[in-house]
Amino acid sequence: MPTIDQAHHWYPDLDPVHGFDHVLRVYRMAERLALVEGADVEIVHAAALLHDAEGSATAGGEIGRSNHHHASSEFARQILEAENWPPEQIAAVQHCILSHRFRDDSEQPQTLEARVLYDADKLDAIGAVGVARALAFALQAGQPVFASPSDKFLESGQLEPGEPHSAYHEYLFKLRKLKASLSTPTGQQLAEDRHRLMQDYFTNLAAEMEFTTKPCPQR
Ligand SMILES: [Fe+2]
Ligand SMILES: [Fe+2]
Repeated sequence: MPTIDQAHHWYPDLDPVHGFDHVLRVYRMAERLALVEGADVEIVHAAALLHDAEGSATAGGEIGRSNHHHASSEFARQILEAENWPPEQIAAVQHCILSHRFRDDSEQPQTLEARVLYDADKLDAIGAVGVARALAFALQAGQPVFASPSDKFLESGQLEPGEPHSAYHEYLFKLRKLKASLSTPTGQQLAEDRHRLMQDYFTNLAAEMEFTTKPCPQR
């Protein structure tokens, strides 16, 4: 069984978005969900420790991130084969990892263990922690915290030429949709407060930014 100490070597300490602290939070949340929902804790533990192990770092760029579930699944296979895990157990962990990415719906979480990992990972993308990670990602990627979204982005999720993908864009495109994508009852319940807090934050961010970037009407 991969250990937390072992996993520490697979993730950067100083990446506030996909660093080791994210993996540790997902590990603990997934464990909590697994125990309540009755999932296989060993599969969930291994999947949580390995789910972002290859290619998820912000510094790796969008190409690395867009494939990180595949790369991490292959990395998991190598680690677990070296530990002589049975093939069906390895496949169960790989399915959890392959189906955890919101932006790729080609493999949906089919097992309880995969649903638990998905929900634990997405609960870390909303709420106070999720807001902090969204802002940190924008700053790491050289993008603004807020930019007014174009009509094209609002309608299609596609950026106009020159339009930055701000943290607010990420909220509109992905973060506000995560609550509805969770499937375990415990995850859905925990998401309620986190979603509300995040929604309040980004709604207020947009209102303050729009207010302070318009000229004063009395001038
Ligand atoms: Fe991921
Ligand atoms: Fe993750």
